Amino acid sequence: MKFKTIEWKSDRVRILDQRRLPQELRYLDCRDAPAVAQAIRTMAIRGAPAIGVAAAMGIALAARKTLSHQPESFLKTLEKVCDEMRQTRPTAVNLFWAVDRMKKIVDRVYTHGVDETKERLVKEALNILKEDIEINRKIGMYGKRLIKNGDGVLTHCNAGALATGGYGTALGVIYSAWAEGKRFRVFADETRPQLQGARLTAWELVQEKIPVTVITDNMAGWLMTKGEINLVLVGADRIARNGDTANKIGTYSLAVLSKWHNIPFYVVAPTSTLDLTIPTGSDIPIEERDIREVTHFRGSPITPKEVKAFNPAFDVTPHSLIEAIITEKGLIRKPFERKLERIKA
Ligand code: MRU
Repeated sequence: MKFKTIEWKSDRVRILDQRRLPQELRYLDCRDAPAVAQAIRTMAIRGAPAIGVAAAMGIALAARKTLSHQPESFLKTLEKVCDEMRQTRPTAVNLFWAVDRMKKIVDRVYTHGVDETKERLVKEALNILKEDIEINRKIGMYGKRLIKNGDGVLTHCNAGALATGGYGTALGVIYSAWAEGKRFRVFADETRPQLQGARLTAWELVQEKIPVTVITDNMAGWLMTKGEINLVLVGADRIARNGDTANKIGTYSLAVLSKWHNIPFYVVAPTSTLDLTIPTGSDIPIEERDIREVTHFRGSPITPKEVKAFNPAFDVTPHSLIEAIITEKGLIRKPFERKLERIKA
């Protein structure tokens, strides 16, 4: 890719500030863990795998900056940082998965000592980043055969390099198919209210010179009636044991529309997005964000002052509407439960 979503710089974590795209390509230098937590909370970095990588790097940064050589106080400090990272956003399970990986290393501080634990934490954060990119490339390899020459592919939100350590999940499939020489059309839902599709997916595809047509979210059904869409590819923030999938608000509506129009609807995600502790989608915590994201546009009000608004950031698509889940371990088709358990093991 021509840009880096997140980078480890020893004394800081460098994040491409996604709030400013596509107008400005600006990097945010986070010099301590609270700054990384704030970047996740305010969506300077977003997307399930990307916030996992950011949290891990935030923890590594906190470890590096800890002055104490006493395992006990090191443990206390790092436990607090892990908790702070867990509080940043509730829905994407990759965040908790990455924090748990880091926490396991923190917990062995009595065995390895403070200095070695610091080094191990940095190494683990870098591994999480590296593995994520490799996984996305594998997902792309498995998914690319679903796209044929001349197809119309619709995607929602941003599940690209910006949402991951690099390359992307749903967009990774698109990049792999394109790199193989296939030519097809990509449609990106604008994705109200934060416009990840219009701002980020469109920007990424432009960087890679892949033509993209942006539509407003409410145009997808009409486009489907016209026969313009052959498949839908979306990312995921958390997949329950039965395959129910939480993803950006609007994904569920797209899945229903796809069913009605007989269009295959694919979820594209690494196995770190599987949460087998949760039996069905109704148990997935759904983040609700500030209603000003709905009532305002770029700081200016677009609704009467008196109105209420509702702003869930995610919805849940029932597994019955999903044709297959594309993972780094291959394409998983229904019935999902046993197969998801097997690939997560
Ligand atoms: O609120 P966001 O922008 O973090 O939501 C992102 C999504 O819903 C993505 O589709 C999902 O995280 C998958 S990213 C590979």
